[in-house]
Amino acid sequence: MNIREGMLQLLKEAGDNFISGEEISKRLGVSRTAIWKHIEELREEGYVFEAVRRSGYRLLATPDVTSAEEIKLGLTTKTFGCAVHHFAVVDSTQNKCQDLAKQGAPEGTLVVADQQIGGKGRLGRVWYSPAGKNISMSLLLRPTLELQECPQITLLAAVAIVETMRDICGVEASIKWPNDILVNGKKVCGILTELNAEAERINWLIIGMGINVNTLEEDFPPEILEIATSLAIEKKRQFRRAEIIQGILKRLEELYLLYIDEGFAPIKKRWELYAVTIGKRVTIRTLHGSLTGYAEGIDETGVLLVRRDNGSLNKVYSADVEIHA
Ligand code: BTN
Repeated sequence: MNIREGMLQLLKEAGDNFISGEEISKRLGVSRTAIWKHIEELREEGYVFEAVRRSGYRLLATPDVTSAEEIKLGLTTKTFGCAVHHFAVVDSTQNKCQDLAKQGAPEGTLVVADQQIGGKGRLGRVWYSPAGKNISMSLLLRPTLELQECPQITLLAAVAIVETMRDICGVEASIKWPNDILVNGKKVCGILTELNAEAERINWLIIGMGINVNTLEEDFPPEILEIATSLAIEKKRQFRRAEIIQGILKRLEELYLLYIDEGFAPIKKRWELYAVTIGKRVTIRTLHGSLTGYAEGIDETGVLLVRRDNGSLNKVYSADVEIHA
């Protein structure tokens, strides 16, 4: 734990009470001057402190930041978020996470950015990630899985995000296969899973999650506004992004451990609870063409099963799905 993390922890633990500079300096083993410097630095980042002579400091307000400290303080996971790398601006958190994975970073390493200037979406699309509003993060996993089982992890991530949105934000979200998270029919979150493998062996897998949190209508480019929404638009209030990230890491880890223990079946059951694609007439578009039919369900590996009007059953691995009314 670094000094800033230690200070914030002590101040948060103290709650409404003051904690003296002397106490902080004793507990952290650093000088009073160092503490004062960090307090000033934190103030510039938006933290509000009350400082009273002879009583010390009290934390009055925490800004909506996604710094490593804010994510790690109060995080109760075992390994997810064990290392948090925060950037103000990156091209894509996926690329940063990839670099860390190559250098041997452990499972659970998280990369978070306040803004992405080259955010990547599925199927080669661009992902809109403006500064200071949304969650853009990538989590590194090193599972022992067969290559064809990897899509299951994306479905698992979608379940974790839907359940976190419900529990922390009070938002009823649903999943459009494979992993678009929708609220009132508009996209609030996208998931991009990238992997690195040799022959049939997976070296690592990176789950990239982009969540529209505090973006308002006027922040979205007009062409996106028609199909996208945010938690703030839906609930008419702003959210603390660090709290949502902590919730997702916690739920993701629980589901991941369940998946390792019991396989895909319990995850599939939960995914089906939230899915809006199943039981609907759909049009599937891939690079190779399109097909229309009835979405019967997903199979044991997470593949979408579509029954065409001629009776044939098609397996869909990756595509854009249009749901008919
Ligand atoms: C989609 O097309 O629906 C997937 C979008 C995934 C966006 C996230 S934001 C964090 C991570 N970094 C990226 O460049 N993309 C993913």
